[in-house]
Amino acid sequence: MPRTAIVTGASSGIGEATAHELADEGIDIALAARRADRLESIAADLESEYGVDAVAVPTDVREETAVEALVEATVERFGGLDVLVNNAGLARGHLVTELDTDDYRTMTETNEDGVFFATRAALPHLTESEGHLVFVGSFAGQYPRPFNPVYAATKWWVRGFAHSVGAQVGDEGVAVSVVNPSEVRTEFGGDDGDSFAETFEPGEVTEPIEIAEAIRFAATRERSGVSEIDLYRRDKFADTIK
Ligand SMILES: NC(=O)c1ccc[n+]([C@@H]2O[C@H](COP(=O)([O-])OP(=O)(O)OC[C@H]3O[C@@H](n4cnc5c(N)ncnc54)[C@H](OP(=O)(O)O)[C@@H]3O)[C@@H](O)[C@H]2O)c1
Repeated sequence: MPRTAIVTGASSGIGEATAHELADEGIDIALAARRADRLESIAADLESEYGVDAVAVPTDVREETAVEALVEATVERFGGLDVLVNNAGLARGHLVTELDTDDYRTMTETNEDGVFFATRAALPHLTESEGHLVFVGSFAGQYPRPFNPVYAATKWWVRGFAHSVGAQVGDEGVAVSVVNPSEVRTEFGGDDGDSFAETFEPGEVTEPIEIAEAIRFAATRERSGVSEIDLYRRDKFADTIK
């Protein structure tokens, strides 16, 4: 059973819920995101609720050296690394013709570069522990999505990278999983307008805990690896043909 994990994007939404699910397994956790105050308060909650060791490591995943320092600090504190959850991610904009280059780069640097930096830094340790790499993909990374093609493309990238890394390191004992949500009630989308938590009523779409439970399942398999879990709201396919 895994003993230690890093969760990126742990300051809200799916990442915060995942930290709770993994801590409930008794796993010590390094929480990474940019908002240090949020991370500190979540770490304190995890320690008091589950008795695990939880550490806040403020990190911008777009910064290569910061991500390397995150992995190093985690391994030093916990003595190894069993699970990396590549969850940090965001969306900006809508129409390709109106997307400015800064927003384009914000998406690719966060959703792709950040995932690459964390995976590269963590892999030697995951190979040693025969651990788990879990990526948060998306429905938008599996089907063409007209709303935001660049965001969708970053999630196709995540899935392509994840499965190709899995092919590269599978024979070294590392399990690679992708968990694909459709809409989840989180702060997602909040930079450009209303967040999904504000847009959707409770019960209308998926809650973060449901995605976190899927990540927990993937990250706690003893011998097998979970390749991909699609967790879609029940009316998602009907939604695509409206
Ligand atoms: N909600 C959905 O409908 C949905 C659907 C499919 C996939 N997803 C994916 O699920 C993942 C989690 O999103 P969420 O829905 O939980 O949204 P969220 O509540 O907005 O959480 C996003 C997390 O990413 C972190 N983050 C953003 N930029 C970062 C950076 N440069 N460095 C470090 N951390 C960064 C944020 O923390 P800070 O701001 O503190 O840095 C936050 O903790 C994302 O990859 C998203 O693409 C979401």
